[in-house]
Amino acid sequence: MIIKKEWRILTVGDGDLSFSYSLYKHHQPRNMTATVYDSLETMTNKYADNAYLKLVDNDVSLLFGFDVTDESSWSTLAKQQFDVVIFQFPLLPAFRSFDEYKGHGEAVSINTLNRALLRTFLKNAFRYFLDPNGEQLCFITSKDVKPYREWNIENALHQHTNIHFQGSSLFDINHFPDYKVRNVDRDKHVRDTQGRTYVWSLQENHSLKMELDAAVYQDADCCTICRAGPFTTSLDNNEHNASKKHQQMMQFEAQWLAKITAE
Ligand SMILES: C[S@@+](CC[C@H](N)C(=O)[O-])C[C@H]1O[C@@H](n2cnc3c(N)ncnc32)[C@H](O)[C@@H]1O
Repeated sequence: MIIKKEWRILTVGDGDLSFSYSLYKHHQPRNMTATVYDSLETMTNKYADNAYLKLVDNDVSLLFGFDVTDESSWSTLAKQQFDVVIFQFPLLPAFRSFDEYKGHGEAVSINTLNRALLRTFLKNAFRYFLDPNGEQLCFITSKDVKPYREWNIENALHQHTNIHFQGSSLFDINHFPDYKVRNVDRDKHVRDTQGRTYVWSLQENHSLKMELDAAVYQDADCCTICRAGPFTTSLDNNEHNASKKHQQMMQFEAQWLAKITAE
């Protein structure tokens, strides 16, 4: 992850505030506001070992109950004041009941709902959180394993918007001492599988783009949605297209397209 000291940073969806604290302590951005989806009480009950007091001691602005999809939950946030908004390892919380899940519509999968969370994050970040005269950057760090690799992060989230994908860089957790990647609903650390930080901007070619790796599996001999290939023969390609995995990814893509077309 590329971090520059002159940036004003907003973190979204921190679990136990250990990422925000590590960012603050080891990268010293010009200004930082950290936000947590849960209330302070829920976060403290969920993660006994959290970085709340360390951030309070350093006068870092904190907001709890911050749902990136719900404008009413960020009413006290200073709007359009940030250069970069960061969401680390986003994932929907578990549904409390089957009815809550079904409330999202008959034909909607968890895959679509996770993509929708990230799309809403990007749209709201550019519209409400980022300074139009600032750096205008949005970061999402995620992993190249299931279910995250099934979200088609590099192509799907910003489809039919004026937001442009810039590329990605390795997320090296060693650059963030004290950061524990948290499980969404439990007091557990997530295995340290390698992450990547994906970057978007309203500019088609932000200056940061030169420091990032281009999207992968985009060539004609690859399957972009499955992140597979390159296929060396058309037989390989056809076999892949007939595979169960590919068929399922095609369904996810169709569902996603239907959802964003209906927006
Ligand atoms: C896998 S956890 C990662 C937690 C933390 N970012 C980390 O890296 O340790 C996924 C996080 O996404 C957050 N999240 C899910 N939906 C959200 C929403 N609508 N607004 C803000 N955060 C959300 C959850 O609260 C949870 O903390």
